[in-house]
Amino acid sequence: MTGNAADIQSIQLPRHVAIIMDGNGRWATQRGKRRTYGHRAGAQAVRSAIAFARRNGIEALTLFAFSSENWGRPAHEVSVLMELFMGVLKREVPDLLANDIRLRVIGDTSRFSKRLQKNIEIAEQHTAECRTLSLNIAANYGGRWDITQAAKQVFKEMQAGRLTLDEVAEDDLARHLQLADGPAPDLLIRTGGDLRISNFLLWQLAYAELYFTEVLWPDFTELTFADAINSFVKRERRFGLTSAQIQQLAGSGDLQED
Ligand code: IPE
Ligand code: IPE
Ligand code: MG
Repeated sequence: MTGNAADIQSIQLPRHVAIIMDGNGRWATQRGKRRTYGHRAGAQAVRSAIAFARRNGIEALTLFAFSSENWGRPAHEVSVLMELFMGVLKREVPDLLANDIRLRVIGDTSRFSKRLQKNIEIAEQHTAECRTLSLNIAANYGGRWDITQAAKQVFKEMQAGRLTLDEVAEDDLARHLQLADGPAPDLLIRTGGDLRISNFLLWQLAYAELYFTEVLWPDFTELTFADAINSFVKRERRFGLTSAQIQQLAGSGDLQED
């Protein structure tokens, strides 16, 4: 889960890509339409992102669909987003299965309607054995919520006497976070031109490469995705080490002192 120098030689393409899908509202406004028109258009971009990830052997794709803070939007917009989410969950499961894609929803789903929670559960159960791509949809997700719920679970373990305060280490928190069972995101893409994280995977993005593009989410294509990957592969990920050390590791796999 945490970035480790020993991983570096095997990393070329990102194993895990996370995307903040932003700009739907502006895309619609530019066309003189309601913001919800942009959310509907964004659904097609989701399909192309998934297809691209699968075709290129990316293991995990995590998409930010609805943040904890998005509840504050106008009621109509929130309800269209919920309907869209529900529709996608119902319609797309056969396609996910056919493409061997495992779906998981990360976030506090307890605030969703019982019907939506049931649909999430069904979609997750049906695709649980799929292995080619892990698709994680962050819905009512917030990075601070994630860290808080993990901290609560560590506290419970302490109360139950399974862990002492002195023993608590980063890994104890990390294993309770969402997505703990896979690699952390290597690459974060944000569309829509804003340069911020907006309370997405705060802990898990610690060593992700960041890629920001002005492209609005409904205009995101496989070409936009490829541009982000091309930028990623040119970067040197150092995980706190020096450039010379990284090159040495890439060559021999062993680290030697100067
Ligand atoms: C992202 O697009 C989708 C969600 C947050 C649900 P926005 O709706 O934030 O679009 P802009 O940023 O207002 O253009
Ligand atoms: C981030 O977009 C959340 C999602 C893409 C779901 P926002 O549009 O909510 O982010 P801010 O408010 O501009 O930071
Ligand atoms: Mg936005």
